Amino acid sequence: MLDGVAASDAALDLVAASDAALDLVAASDAALDLVAASDAALDLVALPPSPISVLPQAPGELTPTLLIRGAASFVGPLGGQDFAAVVEGNLHLLSADTLSNLGEVAGVLSVTRAPDGTTLLATHSGLLSAQEQVLGVPPLAQALGARHVTDLETVGDVVFLATTEGLLAWRGGALFEIDFGLQADLGEADGPLLIAAGARGLFVAQHQQLFSLSEGGGSFLAWPISTPGWRFETLAVDGLGRLWVTDAGTLRSLSGDGQVQWLSLPEPVLSVAARPDVPEVWIRTTTGLWLERRGLFQRYLGAGEVVAQAVTALGQVMLARADGLFLGLPGRGVSLNRSDGVVFEATTAEILPAFPDHVSEVVARFDDLEARVIAGPPWSILLDPVGLGDGPHSLTVTVRYDDAPPSEVRFDFVVALPPPPTFTADIAPLFQAHCDPCHGPRGFAHPIAGYLGFRNELDAILDAVRERRMPLPPNRPLSPEQITLLVEWSAAGTPE
Ligand code: HEC
Repeated sequence: MLDGVAASDAALDLVAASDAALDLVAASDAALDLVAASDAALDLVALPPSPISVLPQAPGELTPTLLIRGAASFVGPLGGQDFAAVVEGNLHLLSADTLSNLGEVAGVLSVTRAPDGTTLLATHSGLLSAQEQVLGVPPLAQALGARHVTDLETVGDVVFLATTEGLLAWRGGALFEIDFGLQADLGEADGPLLIAAGARGLFVAQHQQLFSLSEGGGSFLAWPISTPGWRFETLAVDGLGRLWVTDAGTLRSLSGDGQVQWLSLPEPVLSVAARPDVPEVWIRTTTGLWLERRGLFQRYLGAGEVVAQAVTALGQVMLARADGLFLGLPGRGVSLNRSDGVVFEATTAEILPAFPDHVSEVVARFDDLEARVIAGPPWSILLDPVGLGDGPHSLTVTVRYDDAPPSEVRFDFVVALPPPPTFTADIAPLFQAHCDPCHGPRGFAHPIAGYLGFRNELDAILDAVRERRMPLPPNRPLSPEQITLLVEWSAAGTPE
């Protein structure tokens, strides 16, 4: 079942843990250990029968800051705060404090930072490198021969190359061909080979097949992952170890513990950007941009027409647009656990910042007066109608985040006294239950008939129930609440 073919005199260790076939061809004389793990170990529960609808909540605002003017066609992360972008056909390398233009490149498909610090670029016209601000052709390009690289990812000290003829690994100056054997013909004409690097390894997908290559003790373990019915158009891995997959407008995610989600956004999904060191996932749809963070989806307005997006080390978004390369600063959002309405009595409104761990300040105002916020988390504010007075009011809560523009939420409400009790709604049922057997049409005591009868005798009734003469013992006397109800009804002018 297992073929290990060394094309040279390589020291090549292959360990098959099960009958999963894994072929490895060493193109040079360096060693790369690959271990094929059991193919049963990571079988997933079948895909949920229908996608979960992502409901659009109040959208957030994105404030884009221009970084480079001109038509941007590509942006990709290089780790840390570094990015590569193509603007007006020129390759730009961006780091926290420098921005350099390395000159013209055509058709960049993917970028990665190799273990030696070199930036590698997969382009339509071949593999390029950028080192010390100079564009060149890396030695690796020669070893590739006619194979065309479409995607690049670095995991530890290995650069993985997705090519038109399969997956290759570049480690320590040697190039290895990774063949997944009989159960998968990756590299055949089944659509592009996709790779995505996570914190612990690499996901490899093609057509309907998915593998996880993870490093352990200097070797890479190849796990086939059973994902029935999945197809793969784009792959991305986030900081929580979740794999994100897009396919024909839908979005799927697979968490490290095998949990599968199939999500339906209100509009078709075009691409997903994530990175293995932050939890934020930026999703581009046909009409805009969405942020997913720890299961919460939020739409962002103001992103403009995005061509490509990438996630920054702070979870913000880089936007390649027709008018430039932008850094998108998202307002992080806030909501209240109350919706607009009437306030009858003092209650507490909970303030719910979307990202509690990034909150730097919470400010609230009733109408135009600053209000006291009960510090959190959880943050809250006391809504006391007595202090506010009857009539319409508004509560505005502003949350300042340490890494984003402030977010605001407003709650409009009317302060009103509780509606008074009425005969029909409150008094008649009480009479029915406690007095009617004796004072009703079939009773033996004097009749107390309807609204008028009850109202005319109200003073005597109040005396009788307060002094517990009525209901006639041994019947149980009325409760203090029931007596209060009668008193309030009387005080309100005995409304019918
Ligand atoms: C078990 C029978 C019984 C029940 C129940 C009862 N009553 Fe009476 N009630 C009487 C009798 C008997 C009298 C005295 C004769 C009369 O006034 O008809 C009386 C007298 C009264 C009187 C006039 C005398 C007084 O003591 O002030 C009022 C007012 C009265 N009831 C109100 C009520 C109300 C209100 C309820 C219900 C909360 C109630 N009663 C329940 C039997 C009952």
